[in-house]
Amino acid sequence: MTKKLVFAFPDDVSLTELMVQTKGSGLRMGRWTWRRFPDGESLVRVEEAVDGCDVVIVCTLSQPDTRFLPLCFLAETLRELGAARVVLVAPYLGYMRQDKRFHSGEAVTAHLFASMLSPHIDWLITVDPHLHRIHALEEIYTVPSVVVSAVPVMAQWIHAHVQRPFIIGPDEESEQWVKEVADRASAPFVVLSKERKGDREVQITLPANLSLEGHTPVLVDDIISSAHTMAEVLTKLRAYSEVPPICVGVHGIFAGDSNTLLQQAGAGRVVTCNTIAHPSNAIDLSAVLVEAMGRVI
Ligand code: R5P
Repeated sequence: MTKKLVFAFPDDVSLTELMVQTKGSGLRMGRWTWRRFPDGESLVRVEEAVDGCDVVIVCTLSQPDTRFLPLCFLAETLRELGAARVVLVAPYLGYMRQDKRFHSGEAVTAHLFASMLSPHIDWLITVDPHLHRIHALEEIYTVPSVVVSAVPVMAQWIHAHVQRPFIIGPDEESEQWVKEVADRASAPFVVLSKERKGDREVQITLPANLSLEGHTPVLVDDIISSAHTMAEVLTKLRAYSEVPPICVGVHGIFAGDSNTLLQQAGAGRVVTCNTIAHPSNAIDLSAVLVEAMGRVI
């Protein structure tokens, strides 16, 4: 089988190495460099022959303002050097939450970012993008995509590591993950209601009749960003359970002092998938990403 070359962005090397090591991946790590000139501009250099090859770029798109331009430089250079197809694996796909003009004059960046990224790639593979008012990536991306679900692997982790879990989703949007995680982990679940008041201010309401007795609360959400959502749930849960809750996120962005915030709010453990490199990564998605890639190239 012809080896496929995979080019990993610096923060995605660990995940990419796991993908390369996955049995049957057919992937070989491609050499390239990205450095900055003193003035802050990027120099990207491909150090492999790619003529006629299908190539894969692994670039998580948290902090997308920093990564977008070098990603475009790499993708276009690979094309200029003869790559047949450029597949982007963006384990976390940023700019999905601003999916409408919430206030007059705001940029609808989910649409804008998709239209800026699409011309540079031939396929997009990502994990649980934040789909809310946008129902499928095809509505905004002009290239075909594969959406990988972290749910089965998260449910396996919870089943193997948590005694008598009670799955808790912080808001209505989380129901799509929470219900399936609970089904697969054979656990009860509840979905709370959330009102967002600002970037770092949320109000969470728990049902009055909630009983968690004999269970370990497990908070499940797609994104932990400022962590105020999870912290607010943790604070409210104190009245319902003495067992330190476990926080499980698909994508751990952990902006600012969010780690401290979660510890102070009483998190027993914080666990994330390895879509964004972080010490909390305990749930490995390399095999499911390789499986998705096999459907594309
Ligand atoms: C909301 O739309 C998402 O599903 C997450 O609940 C949200 O991104 C979490 O954000 P933060 O950690 O800043 O509260």
